[in-house]
Amino acid sequence: MSERGRPPPFTFVIMGGTGDLSLRKIMPALRRLADRELLGCGHRIVGVARNRELDDDSFRTLIAGALAKAGFKDDATGRWCSQCLHYQAVGDHSREDYEALRRRIETLERDAGLPGNRVLYLSIPPGSFEAAVEQLGKTGLNRHDRGWTRLVVEKPFGRDLESSRELNDLVHGYFEEQQIYRIDHYLGKETVRNLLVFRFANVLLESVWNRDRIDNVQITVAEDGGIGNRGAFYDRTGALRDVLQNHVTQLLSLIAMETPVDLAAASIAQEKTKLLRAIRPLTDEDIVRGQYVAGEVAGTRVPGFLEEPKIAPDSVTETYAAVRLNIDNWRWQGVPFFVRTGKRLRERRTDIVVTFKSPPVALFGGHGAGVTRPNVLVLTLQPDEGFDLHLDIKAPTESLSLRTIPLKFRYSEVFDDIPEAYQTLLLDVLNGDRTLFVQADEVELSWQLYEPLLRLDHPPCHYRAGSWGPRESDALLARSGHVWRNPGNGAP
Ligand code: BG6
Repeated sequence: MSERGRPPPFTFVIMGGTGDLSLRKIMPALRRLADRELLGCGHRIVGVARNRELDDDSFRTLIAGALAKAGFKDDATGRWCSQCLHYQAVGDHSREDYEALRRRIETLERDAGLPGNRVLYLSIPPGSFEAAVEQLGKTGLNRHDRGWTRLVVEKPFGRDLESSRELNDLVHGYFEEQQIYRIDHYLGKETVRNLLVFRFANVLLESVWNRDRIDNVQITVAEDGGIGNRGAFYDRTGALRDVLQNHVTQLLSLIAMETPVDLAAASIAQEKTKLLRAIRPLTDEDIVRGQYVAGEVAGTRVPGFLEEPKIAPDSVTETYAAVRLNIDNWRWQGVPFFVRTGKRLRERRTDIVVTFKSPPVALFGGHGAGVTRPNVLVLTLQPDEGFDLHLDIKAPTESLSLRTIPLKFRYSEVFDDIPEAYQTLLLDVLNGDRTLFVQADEVELSWQLYEPLLRLDHPPCHYRAGSWGPRESDALLARSGHVWRNPGNGAP
């Protein structure tokens, strides 16, 4: 997490340039950076896709439309589109198409006097990944004779341990690890980046951040939305692969890892991989898989997963997963970590709840309503970013009566604008900062961790859309005397 400067002039090549991610996230992020004058003085952006009907002009019109939807309707955006955006088709990933792409990039760089720094961004379906990497390699686009070349890879990075190893081998056949930026957009969220600062800049926390003081940790990535038009993808993927193996595991690593020696990407990755290695192997006793049935979300009737478009009528894909993890190291031995994610839950909410141990002596027990409750720290990553530290105080009454009150911080009350994840991550790629990207061994270790759970194909438990997930998930915690902290369930 270095100071963000202005990157040197560059060419940004987006494979999958007309796709959903490019239109909704990548292009608006680049435009926002350009608008804030953070992209430096010279850059060219080349959208690459299979469509041979498109040319520079029609591509610019397409992107201008997407930018308008993202709120960029000004003249400067129009000028930026016509100066900086270009289009090149690659059809079926033939050698000739990639040679043409290389020549196009070289011409653009020569005409604009750019020094040959290149970002190759792979925002393409897994089925095209291998062909694209091979062709980029065979046409020499992986090399950097002048300037640098960086490869950005979107998730999913494999679908199990074996396929993630194969992908790493494939990419390493043409690119060095130092050139590769594997994106997990959760790592670009401001509140996730703040976890490092929160933990390691506040000395108060470190002394209590361990098994002596913490009772349990819960990480929730809950979504009220369903699977939208991604049925075919989701039915092959499920909650464990889609969110738990990557986003949730990244949150777990940041919240539980040891202090890195410095903020270099390698030092942080080292601590994260050490943490993943210390997690006790999982068994089917540690997971609850769920699938939503029809219900009501925010007052609207919604269909069940099996009624969604492009879902097999007998699908056993999970739309919810809750896992109990134990970390066998000195800091965390005996502290359960409960993680969960799901679609069509009660509300959209990502948080980390750290529940501290109760006081060793119940000094205030027996004073009517004044039973002490454990202190709880809630780090809310979305939607109302901030944190709450719940502490007990004496209520100002004659009798001794205790109340739990939150010390509250909300980003929106202090800061005007929270940068969007892709904005942060793209600037890091351009500045060569790999701190917030996932390294090869991290990916493999996280697949290895969930490997025993990926093959489970017994039917998932059901939960009603609009609930907090299956009852069995409550039972997972009840076995050790714990409960999920859901808004409104009486937990502090
Ligand atoms: C994506 C998943 O990686 O993350 C989606 O594929 C999920 O299924 C999304 O909805 C959640 O991201 P966010 O930023 O909306 O919490």
